[in-house]
Amino acid sequence: MNIDILLGLQWGDEGKGKIVDALSPVYDIIARFQGGPNAGHSLEFNNVKHVLHLIPSGIFHPDKLNIIGNGVVIDPAVFKKEIEELGPPVSELTKRLIISTRANLILPTHRILDTAYELHKGNTKIGSTLKGIGPAYTDKAGRNGLRVGDILRKDFRELYNDHVKSHLTILKNYDFKFDLKEYEKGWFEGIEMLKKFRMVNTEYLVNELAGKGKRVLAEGAQGTMLDVDFGSYPFVTSSNTISAGACTGLGISPKLIGEIFGIFKAYCTRVGSGPFPTELYDETGTTLRNIGREFGSTTGRPRRCGWLDLPALKYSIMINGITRLFMTKADVMSGFRTVKICTSYKVDGKECLEIPFSNDSVIEPVYTEMTGWEEDISGIREFNKLPEALKIYTEFIEKQTGVPITLVSVGPDREETIFRN
Ligand code: GDP
Ligand code: IMO
Ligand code: MG
Repeated sequence: MNIDILLGLQWGDEGKGKIVDALSPVYDIIARFQGGPNAGHSLEFNNVKHVLHLIPSGIFHPDKLNIIGNGVVIDPAVFKKEIEELGPPVSELTKRLIISTRANLILPTHRILDTAYELHKGNTKIGSTLKGIGPAYTDKAGRNGLRVGDILRKDFRELYNDHVKSHLTILKNYDFKFDLKEYEKGWFEGIEMLKKFRMVNTEYLVNELAGKGKRVLAEGAQGTMLDVDFGSYPFVTSSNTISAGACTGLGISPKLIGEIFGIFKAYCTRVGSGPFPTELYDETGTTLRNIGREFGSTTGRPRRCGWLDLPALKYSIMINGITRLFMTKADVMSGFRTVKICTSYKVDGKECLEIPFSNDSVIEPVYTEMTGWEEDISGIREFNKLPEALKIYTEFIEKQTGVPITLVSVGPDREETIFRN
């Protein structure tokens, strides 16, 4: 069982990029399995911060193979920009990165449709990143998509034109102005960039390498509470962000999965619309946002902040089969005299441990208050040296969830990580 999965347990931005980068030395292959340029995965080393959208977070390790799997949706224009801004030359990156022929393409008109749909949603706006994710996955499921392997076809331009034509027909129903030409130029330049990379049926490659004993880390995007089936629908993304998504998004059997790492922030954030039971509208929320620099890595939008939500965390652990928990950003809470954890909900007045089906349910969080920790913990590298109050906080979470916390992140840099067996 050589394939481990790392994924977000909350509403995204849990720190996946940082941790995947920090864990990369013990893996041979790092593979993205879903999502697309809606993701923003940050990692830091040597005092430089990098934000990745489509490229797996193992890319800065020269001896690792990175794979963009079939479950990902790729915008070639975003891909080109990301490759060019990464640092290493393209000739070097083509050795480190392989792309699935089966990954679907985000067309310029998918992005335009995303904006048109969102503008016309009124009260039910999702708060999408507007990267074309929903329309691209819609075409994939509707069997209308264009895939990476298609770009080598002689009639690719005609195929593209046919797709654009049908999208423009839909767009006629929307009172919305756009400049397709502006998007198209960068998009076709991106297609040329994609052609420089190896495009293969990565499901064979991953299975072959895992079979030979190579270790694979599957990197999730978004978070479980944004999953298209299990999140607060319709305020979700359009892919399966959960562990099962790694199987469909890479072409691997559940039999090959070893560890399933679930990453969560010591508090909660959400960007975009939708229910967020523990959201703080007061000064504490603002403090978390400012100290935690909680602004979207992809859109720059302020993230909504709130206390840790255990019913949601337990739900995510159940859906994913989490074997180990990784906790990030406890350093942000240093200096709080007391901290709170939501242990159950009162739904429509009644105590409840389940996530309600309806977004209209009135959820009142039931909190346990605990002593906070004063110290700056960013320099600590051993779990036992963490402040007592933080140890009690982690033990409480472990007891409530039944899953051990084996990694604590105490800052954005790859070095600011505490590993615990
Ligand atoms: P991802 O989408 O899950 O990869 O997370 P993002 O990169 O969107 O957001 C996480 C943010 O928190 C980034 O700015 C990271 O640099 C930062 N970060 C990650 N782990 C820690 C941590 O333990 N402490 C602090 N203070 N920042 C962290
Ligand atoms: P990472 O991988 C946080 C949110 C959007 C919106 C909803 C749908 O960095 O954790 P979409 O663009 O998919 O149509 O948006 O999902 N969202 C994210 N929130 N982190 C992400 O990715 C997200 N990707 C999408 O804000 O509410
Ligand atoms: Mg992010």
